Amino acid sequence: MKYILIILTEFLILVDSGVRDFKFRPNLPLGDYRIHFIAIIQCNSNSTIQHNFFLYKTSRNTTDLRGNITSLRAFDDSLIINLKMDIKDKIGNWQSNAYTYKSPQAYTCIKNFLGGEFPKFLNKYGINASIYNIIPPGIYTTKGYDVSNYPENTNFPKQIFYGTYKFNIIYTEKNGDRCGCFTFVIEVKRPWEIE
Ligand SMILES: *[C@@H]1O[C@H](CO)[C@@H](O)[C@H](O)[C@H]1NC(C)=O
Ligand SMILES: *[C@@H]1O[C@H](CO)[C@@H](O)[C@H](O)[C@H]1NC(C)=O
Ligand SMILES: *[C@@H]1O[C@H](CO)[C@@H](O)[C@H](O)[C@H]1NC(C)=O
Ligand SMILES: *[C@@H]1O[C@H](CO)[C@@H](O)[C@H](O)[C@H]1NC(C)=O
Repeated sequence: MKYILIILTEFLILVDSGVRDFKFRPNLPLGDYRIHFIAIIQCNSNSTIQHNFFLYKTSRNTTDLRGNITSLRAFDDSLIINLKMDIKDKIGNWQSNAYTYKSPQAYTCIKNFLGGEFPKFLNKYGINASIYNIIPPGIYTTKGYDVSNYPENTNFPKQIFYGTYKFNIIYTEKNGDRCGCFTFVIEVKRPWEIE
């Protein structure tokens, strides 16, 4: 219970507004961690903001995020962000919507979550975060953004349950129209675990 409170406190610090609610609490150990990106699932073929990301292994223990962001619409705080997280439980079943979160300000939300990595991430896509404070419409391609050290340099919670997670991130207009979507599957491992 103490640890759940730590997690919730971390999220509360992160999250200035929105809904937070752990509906499922996995009976899994919790601690310092390293994120291993396992897969990216595309779900945005017909959206105004397309995150055409893919993972590219650059060595045994390093991975790049590659691909492009193709957007017809600015990515800014007029968009709503919906995060749904599924957790694989102790016996290997996905627990859907274990954690859901909604923020009315998509850009600020991502910026706060990524913390020190946010300008680096944008820079790898050729976007200078300090000029616009939005991502203007356009096509942005990267040669590679290294995600091997996550969560280092981000504002993710300091401790998380070890296990497999699926993050589904959906952007919508204020009227509810969906305009972007992407899904990450990650494994949360102990800091010294490589594969
Ligand atoms: C794609 O989006 C447009 C505009 O929102 C819509 O008219 C069209 O039916 C959508 N197509 C598919 C395949 O979802
Ligand atoms: C962006 O990625 C998509 C999906 O991989 C690809 O079809 C498209 O050609 C890419 N666009 C550019 C400008 O590289
Ligand atoms: C971003 O733009 C600011 C203001 O024009 C400039 O001072 C800074 O050097 C730029 N950063 C990068 C990484 O290009
Ligand atoms: C990857 O492994 C090499 C050699 O074991 C190590 O020096 C490096 O720090 C590791 N990188 C990451 C991101 O863990």
